Amino acid sequence: MVVTVVVNGTRVTETIPTRLSVTDFLRHRLGLTGTHVGCEQGVCGMCTVVLDGEAVKSCLMYAAQLDGHEVETVESLGDGDALSPLQQAFKSEHGLQCGFCTPAFLMTATALARGGEPLTREEIREELAGVLCRCTGYEFIVNAVERHLGARPGAADD
Ligand code: FES
Ligand code: FES
Repeated sequence: MVVTVVVNGTRVTETIPTRLSVTDFLRHRLGLTGTHVGCEQGVCGMCTVVLDGEAVKSCLMYAAQLDGHEVETVESLGDGDALSPLQQAFKSEHGLQCGFCTPAFLMTATALARGGEPLTREEIREELAGVLCRCTGYEFIVNAVERHLGARPGAADD
């Protein structure tokens, strides 16, 4: 079947097998390898991308479902070596170690920031709970998202 989708602001039309997942479509068809694969069962959240403004687990969707929709991946953030404010917040707060989970957290936080609602630290934790990091213990990741959302005390000073 043929699918037409806007990916990171660019319209793409591809002929695909009906059972191709969104994750494989992004990684193998479009070469957007920032979206990582973990469990492929909807558990780990590594594959999180933004679909029409909402964070979704791309391993649970078929690429066929993207037809007429808009997808954003981690490659949409930053500009070459220049980090986006969200990426900068992760860097400043040391919100990553191996970085395998980082694209998923960045895209989850991208969707959160678009919501524009003030969130408590506990609410941020709940929103991030769908992505499993094996390295950092979450504190620094939550700090980074909190900083980006403007809620982290003192973040503006350093
Ligand atoms: S790869 Fe684990 S939730 Fe998608
Ligand atoms: S930084 Fe390594 S899995 Fe999260």
